[in-house]
Amino acid sequence: MDNGTPASPSPEECASGILEMSGAQFTPEAAADLWAKILQHKWLLSEKVGRDVGFRTACIDFLENVDQAIEEYASYKRKDTLNELGAHTISRDIWDTISDSQPPKQLVQRRIILPLMQESLSKKHGVIPPKTIIFFGPPGTGKTHFVKAIAGILSWWYIEVAPSMLMEEGTARLGANLRRIMEKVRGLQNTVIFIDEFEELANRRDNADRLDKCITNEFLKQVPLIKKEADRVLLVCATNYIRQLDPALLRPGRFDCIIPVGGLNPDERKTILQYYLSKLNTGPIDLGTIVGATSRFTPADIQYLFEKTAQYTFEQEVATQQDCRVTTETILRMMEGIRPSLTDEVIDEFEKDCQTYSRA
Ligand SMILES: Nc1ncnc2c1ncn2[C@@H]1O[C@H](COP(=O)(O)OP(=O)(O)OP(=O)(O)O)[C@@H](O)[C@H]1O
Ligand SMILES: [Mg+2]
Repeated sequence: MDNGTPASPSPEECASGILEMSGAQFTPEAAADLWAKILQHKWLLSEKVGRDVGFRTACIDFLENVDQAIEEYASYKRKDTLNELGAHTISRDIWDTISDSQPPKQLVQRRIILPLMQESLSKKHGVIPPKTIIFFGPPGTGKTHFVKAIAGILSWWYIEVAPSMLMEEGTARLGANLRRIMEKVRGLQNTVIFIDEFEELANRRDNADRLDKCITNEFLKQVPLIKKEADRVLLVCATNYIRQLDPALLRPGRFDCIIPVGGLNPDERKTILQYYLSKLNTGPIDLGTIVGATSRFTPADIQYLFEKTAQYTFEQEVATQQDCRVTTETILRMMEGIRPSLTDEVIDEFEKDCQTYSRA
């Protein structure tokens, strides 16, 4: 069975073919457009019944149920694409692990989630939800976590475009692979597309080699196409090195929002600490002390601290055969071996980047 790729007879041949098959008359231009869709319908019908249904049957069935047939094929193709690109669902609970005060939660809620959830109201007021976003910030601050939280709370598909998808058939095909993936993505609905380490793919062109330039150029073309053609698709790119991105990509018109994800204030740390503490076998804990001691910790550092702590109490209990509980002292002792990621230098650079690049 063929894959539904339309053959390309002339518009006049399409018109006379459809007339002969179904008795319906169309202008050559309209017939050429329908011809491709009838071939798609024939392929889908044949797939469903497991045998070739023949052109005449497909043509008559298509013309009797045009809208339904077109939507059915589009939906089939979307499922195919979601499968191919490794789409999966994300739990809604991730959103709640982020403290309400943690930037950019409020911003994301106001600018992205609400307008998408209240579509008719946002249309009424002329609010256009962003479709293309960059998250930037030091490593481990929760950029990927935020993207997943957005997909979860919207109940949208989550697709991460991994470098391996772009590298298929070698680096020379990077640009072509990106174009092919983005074409498919534009036909999806209710989907978050995530590209991590964006600086690797959209490097400044001034000192890049030919391949890097080619892929940056491809991004320059693809981002506006997502904005123009995709519906209920959100492209999110994340980077630790916003300065390395090509300036043309950062200008208004390509990405709708450029959003910093940085350090945590005490309240925000408290939320994350409570989340990780809830998974441990705890004894008496003075949360305030731990909040104070983790001021330079990113969420990734906190997660690492709790992994170490869990392993420690587990091993203690295996060795002593006695209930071993995590206390404030255990955590403070475990912290001694961890160097927090947010040094003065990192914070200083991040604040400068916030002033130069943030746009919401
Ligand atoms: N609010 C949160 N509550 C609980 N865990 C969190 C929270 N934010 C982030 N984390 C966890 O911290 C770790 C680091 O977060 P994440 O991977 O999102 O950081 P990142 O900014 O994407 O890092 P990188 O720049 O290295 O890609 C992850 O394991 C994530 O699950
Ligand atoms: Mg990440």
